[in-house]
Amino acid sequence: MTRPGPDASRRGFFAKVLAIACGGLATAVPCGAGLFAFLDPLRRRGEASTFRPVADLAAIPDDGLPRQFSVIADRVDAWTGFAAEPIGAVYLRREKGSREVEALSATCPHAGCFVDLDKGSHCFRCPCHNSTFTLDGGIVDPSPSPRAMDALECRVGARGEVEVKWQRFRAGVADKVVQG
Ligand code: FES
Repeated sequence: MTRPGPDASRRGFFAKVLAIACGGLATAVPCGAGLFAFLDPLRRRGEASTFRPVADLAAIPDDGLPRQFSVIADRVDAWTGFAAEPIGAVYLRREKGSREVEALSATCPHAGCFVDLDKGSHCFRCPCHNSTFTLDGGIVDPSPSPRAMDALECRVGARGEVEVKWQRFRAGVADKVVQG
């Protein structure tokens, strides 16, 4: 019987190393995705649906035109806490003499871009794929967005503090479904 030469045993060694590396990679990718999915709720902790103060009533002129406000919250990443930083934005508006405030999420329901207010045309426009919405968030056809802008629950306290229930909704679907 002939023994393999040094070249053959070196090739065998490299083949084994390659096989181990490929096996490790094949295991690492799904594990990494699973770990990310597992940590995602932790990453979003601090963003749970809750009423958050966003403005004073006096900061929302009663002219029916939406004004944009940031939603501020302490955010908790998997292991790190971030104090008071913007986690989203809303448009608030109210009619003449009214204390009632309407709130719309500034996140486009089509694919999550930030919706701009087009003051000149009295409408909302999304710069990503041109979805257009009326000032009360209604959809303007034809539109890539499958639904109207997402209305958010809003309440006004006795001292005029405006609070919005901040929620994220699934993008690209016709129904307004809260993102878990
Ligand atoms: S993300 Fe707004 S139109 Fe596509």
